[in-house]
Amino acid sequence: MSDFILSIDEGTTGIQASFFSMTDFSMHGNNKIEFPQIYPRPGLVEHNPEDIWNTTLKAIENSIKFAEGENKFFSKKNISAIGITNQRETCLAWNKKTGEIAGNAIVWQDRRTSEFCDLLKKNDSVRKMILHKTGLVCDPYFSASKMHWMLEHYAKAKQWSLTGELALGTIDSFLVWRLTGGASFVTDHTNASRTMLYNLHTGNYDSELLNLFSIPENALPEIKPSIGRFGFTKNVSGLPDGIPITGILGDQQAALFGQNCVRSGEAKITFGTGAFLLMNTGESIVTSDEGLLTTVAYSTTQKRTFALEGSAFIAGAAVQFLRDNFGWVKNSSESAELAMGYPRDEDVLFIPSLAGLGAPYWNPQARGVLFGMTRGTQKSQIIRAVLESIALQNVQLLRLMEKVSHQKIIRVGVDGGASRNDFLMQFQSNILQTTLVRPTNIETTSLGAAMAACVGVLEEDVEFNKVEVAKEFKPEMPGALANASLYKWLKAVDCVNAFYK
Ligand code: G3P
Repeated sequence: MSDFILSIDEGTTGIQASFFSMTDFSMHGNNKIEFPQIYPRPGLVEHNPEDIWNTTLKAIENSIKFAEGENKFFSKKNISAIGITNQRETCLAWNKKTGEIAGNAIVWQDRRTSEFCDLLKKNDSVRKMILHKTGLVCDPYFSASKMHWMLEHYAKAKQWSLTGELALGTIDSFLVWRLTGGASFVTDHTNASRTMLYNLHTGNYDSELLNLFSIPENALPEIKPSIGRFGFTKNVSGLPDGIPITGILGDQQAALFGQNCVRSGEAKITFGTGAFLLMNTGESIVTSDEGLLTTVAYSTTQKRTFALEGSAFIAGAAVQFLRDNFGWVKNSSESAELAMGYPRDEDVLFIPSLAGLGAPYWNPQARGVLFGMTRGTQKSQIIRAVLESIALQNVQLLRLMEKVSHQKIIRVGVDGGASRNDFLMQFQSNILQTTLVRPTNIETTSLGAAMAACVGVLEEDVEFNKVEVAKEFKPEMPGALANASLYKWLKAVDCVNAFYK
């Protein structure tokens, strides 16, 4: 009889529930359900918290049903623990006593607080203080300015803040609160480190930051180790009472953990709509004023491990752009075939700033630009340039991580949808001049949350020293050519950044 971990991955567009066997970490009953995205105006993105909760319950219900069908040893009586991973930064306000919600959750992509953040960072000492304490750039991406906005615009939130009933939390915190029947109001260090209210050096909320954003500390969840005890299920439809929640990680950190990047110098790239890159820096807090973020990778009761992070806003979305706007490709694998269908023109370069430039530029004004076309330029060369741009921007970020941490990256794991694109992975390895490892299970986010919960429930240091490797990509391009290609592209992206300043 085997025991199972329920992993709940609350992503930006969908919620995935799955079970992992504690014996061999095989995945069972995986079920993902999308939920509505709310766009009140351009630049604004919201989620209805009840949609999140109801979709979570449905995904769990389906997952139980599927797992029962797939594995004769599965029974919901054998769920030993729950691991949660979530879209980070997205936050909401609710009433700690009654459970009433103050308004929609404001999603990480939402830009409504841009002006407020611009104003704050105009003051260089405030900008530097935020960077030094939180490891983050002052940007609407993070929760603090969204929470500030909710306190100003959600009448109920304001009222509850006066009576001490207000809860302001990220999605992990909301889910745990609901799963435990309101008994636990908690978060973990990885999620707290994305709020811009968390001091990396003390491991706690920072009073100067709380004052800056006018956030009452008693409205925030208690910060606990990512691997540990968060509470027990109570009155959750479809789940027995008393299942411990023993792992919480923000989704990018969960992918890092799921790739077993637990040693300093190990990195991962998750290819979703955008690309999220994290490099483990061990117990050192490496902050940089060069546009990378510093974040908690995971924490136990004994220690916190840190990471450098770079995010590119467009990765898989570049292929969708070719498909939906031009009808040039049907899917990612066709884009790879077409890209190889005509000799490469190394002067045709694409800068994928279709949603602004992310790290290290943080320039929301930037637009996508295609360089180097002649009358002879072919469609396939443009497709190739678009695919190559996804890899080039990642290499720029990984190189910067090596520079600021004074450390060579020793392993790069890849996961997420576009990691299936062999052409892209090979080119990525060529330019990076490092081996890339694609695991068999590219659902590393769910796996990471399950691994954390497994360690948490067993209360012992389980060694996950193996990632089942599906394919390795080794560099096949001479180093000099790789560097020349990167150099040319960096010149082009600098140009785009300067043009849209
Ligand atoms: O920081 C935002 C990130 O956590 C969202 O991830 O996978 O839901 O797009 P994802």
